[in-house]
Amino acid sequence: MNTNIKIPKHVGIIVDGNGRWAEKRGLSRSEGHRAGAKNLKEIIKHTFSRGIKVLSVYVFSTENFKRSTEEVNYLMKLFVQSFKKEFSKLKDENVKIVFSGRQNPLPEDVLTMMNKLTLDTKNNTGNILNVCINYGGHAEIIDATKKINQDVMNNVISIDDINEEMFSKYLYNDLPPLDFLIRTSGEVRISNFMLWQASYAELYFPKTFFPDFNKDAFDEALIEYTSRDRRFGGIKYENKNH
Ligand code: IPE
Ligand code: IPE
Ligand code: MG
Repeated sequence: MNTNIKIPKHVGIIVDGNGRWAEKRGLSRSEGHRAGAKNLKEIIKHTFSRGIKVLSVYVFSTENFKRSTEEVNYLMKLFVQSFKKEFSKLKDENVKIVFSGRQNPLPEDVLTMMNKLTLDTKNNTGNILNVCINYGGHAEIIDATKKINQDVMNNVISIDDINEEMFSKYLYNDLPPLDFLIRTSGEVRISNFMLWQASYAELYFPKTFFPDFNKDAFDEALIEYTSRDRRFGGIKYENKNH
């Protein structure tokens, strides 16, 4: 790839369009999810090979429990399978795997694998893979607020200590802000993903359904990111005249 490409530190991907990918091919939604899981494995590897330090993937929202029992069960089965097979391999690649989301009501076998991956990779010092499962941005902010309240009541911190930096540390994981947020499938919304962390993220909404969002599509996303002018509320350096 061109060396003038800017590499974001933290990329988030909202994995979307598995169902429509399958529908277009006359396949079941489950087959779409299977194809999505297969592609996710490739995209994770590719992302890290491009020098991105942290990758957050949104694979199941708190709201996704509204789907049919059949679909939810299939997804949970797929998570266990992928965690056992593909994700376990990341341990030897020095990747630290962390999870964001509420435990309840995730099934026991999913939670067991999540704990195992967390423990097995906790001392890894390379890339960070943050898997958002049973995750909601609202839930995360509420859960952080509860933890802060507890620490204030126990005199661990004082209410005056609370600022943006401290608040971030009470989120599910202490990660850098999101630089680049990609949502596949053409939907142009955030759907409760990393509301706190995405405050200044560049947003990108390719039309491709996730199972087809391959390495080339990811590289195209990086070209788009490179073209963005990030200002963080300031002004463009070259145009400082009043
Ligand atoms: C994304 O694909 C996977 C999950 C949300 C778990 P969808 O299942 O949302 O696919 P569409 O949006 O119906 O195409
Ligand atoms: C968002 O996708 C959640 C995940 C990708 C895990 P959805 O497909 O659930 O979102 P909506 O319902 O279209 O907003
Ligand atoms: Mg969807």
